[in-house]
Amino acid sequence: MCTVTIAEPRIDPMLTTPMVISARRQETADTFTIDLAPPGGFTFLPGEFTMLYVYGVGEVPISISGDPAHPEVLTHTIRAAGKVTEALERMRPGDTVGVRGPYGTGWPMEAAKGKDVVLVGGGIGLAPLRPALSHIINNRIDYGLVSMAIGFRSPHEMLFVEEIREWRQHFDLDIELTVDVADETWRGSVGVVTRLIPMLEANEDAIAMVCGPGIMMTFTARALRDRDFHPDNIYVSLERNMKCGVGMCGHCQYGPLFVCTDGPVKQFSEVERLFGIREV
Ligand SMILES: Cc1cc2nc3c(=O)[nH]c(=O)nc-3n(C[C@H](O)[C@H](O)[C@H](O)COP(=O)(O)OP(=O)(O)OC[C@H]3O[C@@H](n4cnc5c(N)ncnc54)[C@H](O)[C@@H]3O)c2cc1C
Ligand code: FES
Repeated sequence: MCTVTIAEPRIDPMLTTPMVISARRQETADTFTIDLAPPGGFTFLPGEFTMLYVYGVGEVPISISGDPAHPEVLTHTIRAAGKVTEALERMRPGDTVGVRGPYGTGWPMEAAKGKDVVLVGGGIGLAPLRPALSHIINNRIDYGLVSMAIGFRSPHEMLFVEEIREWRQHFDLDIELTVDVADETWRGSVGVVTRLIPMLEANEDAIAMVCGPGIMMTFTARALRDRDFHPDNIYVSLERNMKCGVGMCGHCQYGPLFVCTDGPVKQFSEVERLFGIREV
């Protein structure tokens, strides 16, 4: 008997969906947030990223910074750093961006259930953590004590000013904020974000989610280890130049890992050795 196998129709992983910018907010001098209107909605997990394509310019990986409970809006917060992100900065509501994804590993929201959670964000690193905090707020009963340490270089570089104010009004969230360098308007804590770690309320079985520059993640992990956090319970989000975003081109290789498919979120215990090596 002859059996015929009919191949499942496959969606091309490189296919881009055009989405219109529905809103835009300037966060700081070089950082902005755009809301896209995904036709049919866009579901994602906290920590995942998309590839954003500016027609005729190029494509970049950007973490999703919105609320996973609102699939009708796809939000990204972007720092203008070069060719593509500067082109995105020039775009306005009504303009169209190409989107692929979501891709990558997300934050360990399931593993964190029933445990205390510590979030630590530095600068633009707060953007990929925002969906994790939104998820926790939407499902507050699933988590124990929740605290967050946020650091910016200066008061002018603060992102999500209104949201941070709202988060700080939640009686069941401990949100600590610091800046490296203060000005005359600043009344809060001054110093690097790691200085806040000893103040955060959490037991040593807590799950930590950390995102920021490499050096900040290394020192944060060290400070968490000083508090007896288990190295497997500390998660970081890696950054690497990307091309395909789906494990095909090797552009994002980081030691034995492809950041696009093995990451970006990894246990610090798995990447600690790589953090210390230049030009990996
Ligand atoms: C998983 C993941 C998630 C990410 N999430 C975010 C996010 O949420 N938000 C965000 O803002 N970014 C995010 N990034 C980083 C973002 O992808 C990069 O900033 C972006 O790819 C830069 O591309 P570009 O074309 O704008 O810059 P490029 O032109 O590629 O420039 C990149 C770097 O080179 C420098 N550079 C550019 N031109 C020159 C020049 N002529 N001479 C010297 N130096 C130069 C720039 O200063 C910049 O540091 C993420 C990256 C990854 C991997
Ligand atoms: S970007 Fe191509 S393999 Fe990761």
